[in-house]
Amino acid sequence: MATFCGGRETRVALDRDAAARMFDLDGRVAIVTGASSGLGASVARALASAGARVAVVARRRDRLTELAGRIGGLAVACDLSDLDRVGALVPAVAEGLEPPEILVNAAGNMFTTERAESEPLDAVRRTMDLNLLAPFLLAQAVFPHMRAVGRGAIVNVSSISGRVGIPGIPQASYAASKAGLSGLTAELAVQWARHSIRVNTVAPGFFRSEITSPLYESERALEYLRRNTPLPTEGTADDIVGAVLWLVGDAGRYVTGQTVVVDGGWTAR
Ligand SMILES: NC(=O)c1ccc[n+]([C@@H]2O[C@H](COP(=O)([O-])OP(=O)(O)OC[C@H]3O[C@@H](n4cnc5c(N)ncnc54)[C@H](OP(=O)(O)O)[C@@H]3O)[C@@H](O)[C@H]2O)c1
Repeated sequence: MATFCGGRETRVALDRDAAARMFDLDGRVAIVTGASSGLGASVARALASAGARVAVVARRRDRLTELAGRIGGLAVACDLSDLDRVGALVPAVAEGLEPPEILVNAAGNMFTTERAESEPLDAVRRTMDLNLLAPFLLAQAVFPHMRAVGRGAIVNVSSISGRVGIPGIPQASYAASKAGLSGLTAELAVQWARHSIRVNTVAPGFFRSEITSPLYESERALEYLRRNTPLPTEGTADDIVGAVLWLVGDAGRYVTGQTVVVDGGWTAR
């Protein structure tokens, strides 16, 4: 509905419905990995609030079933490190809901905090499998469905450590896997633009979650985070959710191939 405000000289048309429509995902089917906790769970709830039917994916089936029940979605338990099984995920979602038009790759983990010179090869491989190869395989698997409907949005969740080194928290393979997502994002965006499939990455700074809980338990680490974050408040999952909603909906329809950093200014210093 259009309303007007301002003085006689400066009348501004406010079309609240048009603004809301930009974020409306009514009827679209989405897959969110890493949805059993943390940022992925928040993203799944937000996409459902915007009208999407969401398939929530991770290993912990009990958590997924509970979340899917609350948001009217579909729980799909899957170990994304098992790359031979990742291909079965998208057909299961297409059958249980409908073919997906949105994919958010939020599942990820850090398997070692050894310094770079000592990272065991096994940990490096596990990191790459889960954080980089699984998102790539899932993107390949959703591609035919998105091409068929002539639109799609993929958002990968990386990290600021894919862009800058983080002093004091060794994470070489994790950083490489997250930087890899940005390279993959740009390349897929260019290859698939002709089908109106958009591919972007959101790079979070520091947020409380299971993966970061040791940091938030230490007053010294908390002080380190505060000192290095220009914005005065701690980031919350809502800050990531806002960026994802923008990128998957019509509000972001001309944005592709980008890595959007959400870090309270950490990398701007
Ligand atoms: N929190 C931060 O400060 C921060 C900063 C930068 C980037 N990130 C990135 O944000 C994403 C979400 O992390 P988070 O902070 O929300 O951490 P989190 O609470 O630990 O969530 C990680 C999610 O990934 C899932 N997952 C882990 N291994 C999996 C596997 N093998 N197969 C399927 N699912 C798996 C976990 O579920 P199950 O255990 O049930 O499988 C969980 O749902 C990650 O990609 C992380 O790298 C987070």
